[in-house]
Amino acid sequence: MLKQPHTKYRPFPAPALPDRAWPSKVIERAPVWLSTDLRDGNQALFEPMNAERKLAMFQTLVRIGLKEIEVAFPSASQTDFDFVRQLIEERLIPADVTIGVLTQAREHLIRRTMESLRGARRAIVHVYNATARPWREQVFGLSRDEVKRMAVEAVTLVRQLAAEQPATEWVLEYSPETFSQTEPEFALEVCNAVIAAWEPTPAAPVIVNLPATVEAATPNVYADQVEWLHRRLDRRDSVVLSVHPHNDRGTAVAAAELAVLAGADRVEGCLFGNGERTGNVDLVTLALNLYTQGVDPGLDFSDINAVARTVEHCTQLPIHPRHPYVGDLVFTAFSGSHQDAIKKGLAARRDGDIWDVPYLPIDPADLGRSYESIIRVNSQSGKGGIAYLLESHYGLVMPRRLQVEFSGVVQRHTDASGGEMSADALWRLFSREYLEAQAPLRLHGHHLDEDGEAQRIELVVERGGHSQRLEGAGNGPIAAATDALGLPLKVLSYEERSLGHGADARAVAFVEIAFDGVDGAVYGVGLSANIVTASLQALIGAANRAQARIASAQACTTAAA
Ligand code: KIV
Ligand code: ZN
Repeated sequence: MLKQPHTKYRPFPAPALPDRAWPSKVIERAPVWLSTDLRDGNQALFEPMNAERKLAMFQTLVRIGLKEIEVAFPSASQTDFDFVRQLIEERLIPADVTIGVLTQAREHLIRRTMESLRGARRAIVHVYNATARPWREQVFGLSRDEVKRMAVEAVTLVRQLAAEQPATEWVLEYSPETFSQTEPEFALEVCNAVIAAWEPTPAAPVIVNLPATVEAATPNVYADQVEWLHRRLDRRDSVVLSVHPHNDRGTAVAAAELAVLAGADRVEGCLFGNGERTGNVDLVTLALNLYTQGVDPGLDFSDINAVARTVEHCTQLPIHPRHPYVGDLVFTAFSGSHQDAIKKGLAARRDGDIWDVPYLPIDPADLGRSYESIIRVNSQSGKGGIAYLLESHYGLVMPRRLQVEFSGVVQRHTDASGGEMSADALWRLFSREYLEAQAPLRLHGHHLDEDGEAQRIELVVERGGHSQRLEGAGNGPIAAATDALGLPLKVLSYEERSLGHGADARAVAFVEIAFDGVDGAVYGVGLSANIVTASLQALIGAANRAQARIASAQACTTAAA
């Protein structure tokens, strides 16, 4: 790369528009959408779609709610020509959907294009020619007047051929290709010449489409260009002003949004941003950005995963896991603080509330995605995500300090094994750590007697393969069992909850103890149909885990010596 890039590149000039109005506007309704998945998207694939894929894509676009679909470049390939014929002849186009086709502004291509549309109920004929200086001078060697004449002659020919097929309702779309790199005055001159040649009316408007064929400037510059033209176009009430942003600078979505503020009525793009080079603007992101502002986009992504799978099948390209709204990882929080905030936000929600959950700009359920996928656990995760998964999958509500303790267990496990932990794997780890902590003491049974205020307990335990009976007394089963165990421990806290509902419900008990020789508190957990049994298991489990810690500390000291 150059140390002085200005010797090779120059900033893109914006039109003079000091009184621009778009910055203080708000998008209050969705633009008209046009999908060009089957044309711009298709022509950018390693392997363009075959007939089966084209039809699957068309049907998906219809299901989503697209009313304008550019289906082909019929003069460029037989597959495309045949696809248009198939849609028309097999009557596959719903009454409220208009198909469009693209053609260069050249006579034989226009004739072939018009032929492909024979018998269509309504059709958009999209004519384009490049207008920017590098194309005029380097690619075609044409003057401005010649470029303008080319556009006018093409439109005049479409008009004439359209008159020969009066049963079809014809809509002209004209694109000054490379608009965003064209001198604004010249783009205006060509567009106004096209408008004059077509003679649109408010009832039968022309579509003037302004492509950022190559995205060349910041989105505000594109917005200025669009507003500049929007204010000056002839017969503005007979023009549907359309934009067609590509994503070379990675800002196509912003460019489209600002262009709508600047006066665009219509946006052309592809699902998930497929298209030439870095792609066309992503219609899904645009639509869902509107949705999250409370504006109905008129497109339905309530099963976004199904749409994604069809698009991947048709394009043979994967969708990035972090792609907005659809990527596999976009509703996944690995970081502990994010998980904690999401968990609290979801818990605080009541039916009918405005969506206000931290870190989630949209309710995943609105897109047919489940909350289960929101939280995943790896070595970066904290107690929040772990607690959420165990609660949502197993109904286990852990006391807060146990969440902290268990997250340390998970951390050691993920540090050692790497990778991510599913809810099932977390439960197995939890069971091994707490429910199966049955050595050196295993509880086999107990007998409890009331003795006035006190309770007497007899514990049947197994220690080193031998059964033993231990007796103790206290003001409750846990105090009595602590007495019976005769270990240097003190119970710090006790909680019990139920796990599951109805006849299958079981009690889960959590006992937190301090144990001589062990730093900090230690938890034990018991799970049983009987609440006293669960409590005793939890107490003994805590004692076992404390002794295991002492043993492992001693083993480390011996090894170090
Ligand atoms: O990007 C572009 O300029 C195009 C035109 C043909 C509309 O795709
Ligand atoms: Zn394009």
